[in-house]
Amino acid sequence: MTANPDLQNIVFPGLKDRVVIITGAGQGIGRVFAKAFAFAGARVVIAELNESKAAAVAAEIMQAGGRALAVTTDVADEASIKEMIEVVEDEYDGRIDALINNAGIFSTLQMRPFDQIPLQEWEQVLKVNLTGPFLCARGVLPAMRRAKWGRIINIASGAVRLGRPNYLHYIATKSALMGMSLSMARELGPDNITVNAILPGATFTEIERKTVTPQQKERIIAMQCVARAETPEDLVGAVLFLASEASGFVTGQSINLDGGVTAS
Ligand SMILES: NC(=O)c1ccc[n+]([C@@H]2O[C@H](COP(=O)([O-])OP(=O)(O)OC[C@H]3O[C@@H](n4cnc5c(N)ncnc54)[C@H](O)[C@@H]3O)[C@@H](O)[C@H]2O)c1
Repeated sequence: MTANPDLQNIVFPGLKDRVVIITGAGQGIGRVFAKAFAFAGARVVIAELNESKAAAVAAEIMQAGGRALAVTTDVADEASIKEMIEVVEDEYDGRIDALINNAGIFSTLQMRPFDQIPLQEWEQVLKVNLTGPFLCARGVLPAMRRAKWGRIINIASGAVRLGRPNYLHYIATKSALMGMSLSMARELGPDNITVNAILPGATFTEIERKTVTPQQKERIIAMQCVARAETPEDLVGAVLFLASEASGFVTGQSINLDGGVTAS
């Protein structure tokens, strides 16, 4: 079995000094993205609901010699996003190069048949996972338009391609992000702003979760071409590329990053 990639070996040029906002970067996939961008020389903004986790990731990055700013943010709250954007623009002279819409209600979700999802939970998942990326994209737009350069990357999910049952609200929001990315790409192309979605497969982080049982994990690995568990590091190369100058003609895409589960 092959080893998972080491973050230090995933390098992409041209990201030095870029201001990159990563929502929900206090743990899991977002935390690894934050470390990867900092390692590439970018100035990373950790826009995270959990204040202490955001601060811990920023401290971890700065101890390693990187640049990071933790801003407590609730992506479901327009006023909170506005404040976060103001802090970032003040700190970095109005510059925002990339937005990674990564925050989501995910590892805390309970799996259950859709007719048993309480309406309040349905609405909260929509608010964080879909309205959040919409509001964050609106928030970064003035800075990106001023610069005539921008990258928006939405973290959708490979579960959408498989139609995984028992978390319909989650699947509905991640499907919507694909459509939103394409339409937004068409609207923002004239401003030289690209918008793409990535669809990670089942990605195993430091956070334990109940949505994938050990048996399901083995089944997923058996469906992949690359027969090992996916980790956040497996997503990093594509995300660095999509945030870079090199991807300027790649837009409106929804890219499967699942070790080949959906390869056809
Ligand atoms: N791990 C996987 O298998 C997988 C697969 C496909 C897609 N994804 C997506 O990737 C993203 C990250 O996944 P993860 O495994 O790291 O999830 P996670 O649940 O471990 O982390 C989510 C992060 O988002 C933050 N967050 C939640 N609500 C927020 C809000 N209102 N405002 C700001 N931050 C908020 C949380 O505090 C947490 O730090 C999610 O969007 C998830 O849906 C994950």
